[in-house]
Amino acid sequence: MAFALPDLPYAKDAFGDIISAETFDYHHGKHHNAYVNQANDQLGEAGLEGAKLSEVIRKASEAGNSKLFNASAQIWNHSFYWQCLSPEQQEPSGKLKEMIERDFGSKDELLAKLKQECAGHFASGWGWLVLDGETLKVTSLHDADTPVAHDGMKPLLTIDVWEHAYYIDYRNARPDYLEALLKKAINWEFVAQNLDGKGVERADQG
Ligand SMILES: [Fe+2]
Repeated sequence: MAFALPDLPYAKDAFGDIISAETFDYHHGKHHNAYVNQANDQLGEAGLEGAKLSEVIRKASEAGNSKLFNASAQIWNHSFYWQCLSPEQQEPSGKLKEMIERDFGSKDELLAKLKQECAGHFASGWGWLVLDGETLKVTSLHDADTPVAHDGMKPLLTIDVWEHAYYIDYRNARPDYLEALLKKAINWEFVAQNLDGKGVERADQG
């Protein structure tokens, strides 16, 4: 079965000035949709029709099929990213809050570290908060690379740092996009759910 573009979990105008409806029109409706079409066009040739998205990503990575890897990984990365955002301001609580304080000192220190990692990431890619064993870690991956293809890297939160994520609303000011998103638009409930190590499943399909 072909992969599909998942619906956004909120209205396109739900974020006001933080992320405009026009950004969602392009980022979700054009860019994410293009990755879905590009991956679907390659599944037959790769002998992967009917495989789950996560399986396609891993098999394409193992086979060195960068074209299929990029398209399929970008489907998964974006499907995960939409869920990491919330139009209602939230705060980390419970076990997640305790782990953030244990591993970073405070939520503000975690956000500063994420912002530094994402702002300093050269060119296109994704910033990540992952679970490495029992420890929270901030890192980033280049281009379409994804925790799905890295054993032991359990995804909790991602920030898209491709220019298409922020250029309409912030032009080239990536730090301003990061500041707004990290302070006002993170779905900490979703991040906390992913502490069960099943984050990959939450953006999988097929
Ligand atoms: Fe993107």
